[in-house]
Amino acid sequence: MSSHGEAIPMIARRSTGLRGEAHVPGDKSISHRALILGAMAVGETRVTGLLEGQDVLDTAKAMRAFGAEVEKRGDTWHVQGVGVGGFAEPDRVIDCGNSGTGVRLIMGAMATTPIAATFTGDASLNKRPMARVTDPLALFGARAYGRSGGRLPMTILGARDPLPVRYATPVPSAQVKSAVLLAGLAAPGETVVIEREATRDHSERMLAGFGASVTTEETNEGWVITLTGQPELRSQEIVVPRDPSSAAFPVCAALICEGSDVLVPNIGLNPTRAGLFFTLREMGADLTFENEREEGGEPVADLRARFSPDLKGIEVPPERAASMIDEYPVLSVVAAFAEGRTHMPGVKELRVKESDRIDAMAVGLRANGVEVEEGEDWWTVHGRGHGSVKGGAEARSHLDHRIAMSFLILGLATAAPVRVDDGAPIATSFPVFEPLMAALGAEISRAG
Ligand code: S3P
Repeated sequence: MSSHGEAIPMIARRSTGLRGEAHVPGDKSISHRALILGAMAVGETRVTGLLEGQDVLDTAKAMRAFGAEVEKRGDTWHVQGVGVGGFAEPDRVIDCGNSGTGVRLIMGAMATTPIAATFTGDASLNKRPMARVTDPLALFGARAYGRSGGRLPMTILGARDPLPVRYATPVPSAQVKSAVLLAGLAAPGETVVIEREATRDHSERMLAGFGASVTTEETNEGWVITLTGQPELRSQEIVVPRDPSSAAFPVCAALICEGSDVLVPNIGLNPTRAGLFFTLREMGADLTFENEREEGGEPVADLRARFSPDLKGIEVPPERAASMIDEYPVLSVVAAFAEGRTHMPGVKELRVKESDRIDAMAVGLRANGVEVEEGEDWWTVHGRGHGSVKGGAEARSHLDHRIAMSFLILGLATAAPVRVDDGAPIATSFPVFEPLMAALGAEISRAG
């Protein structure tokens, strides 16, 4: 059941001939950052294309609690920022709902201002590890008091006299990197983050857009990102590109449903995000990038996906994991319809997302007739080829939007329908999933 209401059981039935254009919503990662940096800038930042999913709405509410004005007028979100170091102390608990990105980035953003804030979330978020963020924030001088294992609810006391920090991230995580960079904004001097593997770089790009000095260098240690503290962030006009992680669902549906031809326009192909699309092409997917161009400093294309009856299982390179970390669940669905095994190593992080995504997918795929093997940081899907996956079972979504959507995509190409116990979490990232998929001809409905 979702923290925001009743469970919504859903069902997906075999569908053919998906057709049309799928206009997916704005990028979730970029939407959170636009609101947070807008709140930390001086003046009014205007944002269009913002994802209006629950995760981002929770971040908007949090920014208001820290003193920024955030409101939507017409199609534009207006954020009146308070400046770096200008956050007010919230007079209530900050509830970030289901969003790890929201809570971790906001903790970073407030950790170098001398205020206290208490954070909580839903049952999924309150299980997730926060020490990965509070450890580096302690180096700035912030203090964290949470539940055992570094879990929410948690209170952060921001540092009064923050020190700049040099921090090598122990896990590949853009959320950790971003929390440190946001904390570095109110610290004097240079804050440095070193990451062994490149993770999504939206924070660096957007910080530069707001006028901060941020550089990225590739060295023997890895990627070294250096931020100069105490900049004056200047308000911006931001056009949020469409979310490649949401595009993944109509794209993958088209590949596995007979007779499909779907266009997903205007998708960001930032190399730190687009790993899934290259992986699908290696599997033999009929997926083309049309009208390739640059928009707002990001590579963008229209994706055309057509039914691909001859998909082959592949070895997914572990170094690609960060660039497609949210897409493994739906990749495992496509892999079920490929010939041969798809091996996915180097993906330990999947175990600490909104759910343990390896476990959640493995259990639901097995129940629907697909053989899956798993270890702590790898999993293998044994593909059955097109037309050979049974379906017929219920899968649990574990408060995880991407698990819910992945099993609904599975059910579009299995012999018998697939049920999902709760589709309510889909609203966190893709509130128009149901009408968008229905318009393409996909039979996905509420099971009642
Ligand atoms: C995100 C980073 C990723 C990703 C999440 C969004 C971000 O998490 O899974 O959905 O916006 O920075 P990690 O940084 O924990 O890998």
